[in-house]
Amino acid sequence: MSVSITALHPIFVGEVAGIDCHAPLAREEVAAIEAGMNDYAVLAFRDQNNTDEEQIAFSRHFGELESYATPGHIRRRAEQRLGPGIADFSNLDKDGRIMSAEDRVWFFKLGDRLWHSDSSFRPAPAKYSILSGRLIPSWGANTEFADMRAAYDALDERTKAEVEELVCEHSLIYSREAIGFTDMTAEEIEAFRPVRQPLVRTHPVTRRKSLFLAAHAGAIVGWTIPEARMFLRDLTEHATQREFVYSHSWRLFDLVMWDNRTTMHRARRFDHSEVRDVRRTTLAGDALLITQGRHACS
Ligand SMILES: [Fe+2]
Repeated sequence: MSVSITALHPIFVGEVAGIDCHAPLAREEVAAIEAGMNDYAVLAFRDQNNTDEEQIAFSRHFGELESYATPGHIRRRAEQRLGPGIADFSNLDKDGRIMSAEDRVWFFKLGDRLWHSDSSFRPAPAKYSILSGRLIPSWGANTEFADMRAAYDALDERTKAEVEELVCEHSLIYSREAIGFTDMTAEEIEAFRPVRQPLVRTHPVTRRKSLFLAAHAGAIVGWTIPEARMFLRDLTEHATQREFVYSHSWRLFDLVMWDNRTTMHRARRFDHSEVRDVRRTTLAGDALLITQGRHACS
């Protein structure tokens, strides 16, 4: 069966048919998915009831898994429900019980309801994220995506010139602070020291430009904080207008893959008394060059 992709939204997001994510992919299948990612930026695969190992194997067709040390007290390895290579984005604790709404791990998760790009707060931000829906609540819990290429294209010329050379500082601390979660330990503050990222990035294959925004962005180099926060808020509002946004309503065993270099996403509310078990593999991206002309040098 050959791979085919059907658009789910007028400007991005496709649904893939003809792929079985359990089995090793043929080279042509990998190429078709990569071409689809370059074009659609988000791809949905239906009815993929994978094990964690199968999801990891599927993901590795598209690059290296992201690997980094998480500060121990957010969630130690011994307190984790899943093995290495796959991240737990459920509301379950290590014993499979719904975690307390007062658990600080839950507070960290709530920050994902703000628009963001995965790992933009790391020196090498993520390439693709791949999320599988293992248990889906009866209401809510959509994942929304925004096309940052379309958002860039729609900027007026003056704003395009203004953002071109800007450098932002991203930190997990900024996005958690935005929801009033400021109770960080010294180890967390150290682990999440801001990193610099250009505000405009160019896709390595398509050469299309996109806005590299996230709730993790909390400063612009050379700007005052209030001016920077206001501008970032305005840009985010622009970039997440409904015409640039697709809302994914999860079906059981959906697998959704997105390119963090060209999209932002956010999680939506659901009933905390219901289980949401979603698991993510993440592919490492490249560190971005802060070029000489950019404001980091001023
Ligand atoms: Fe995310």
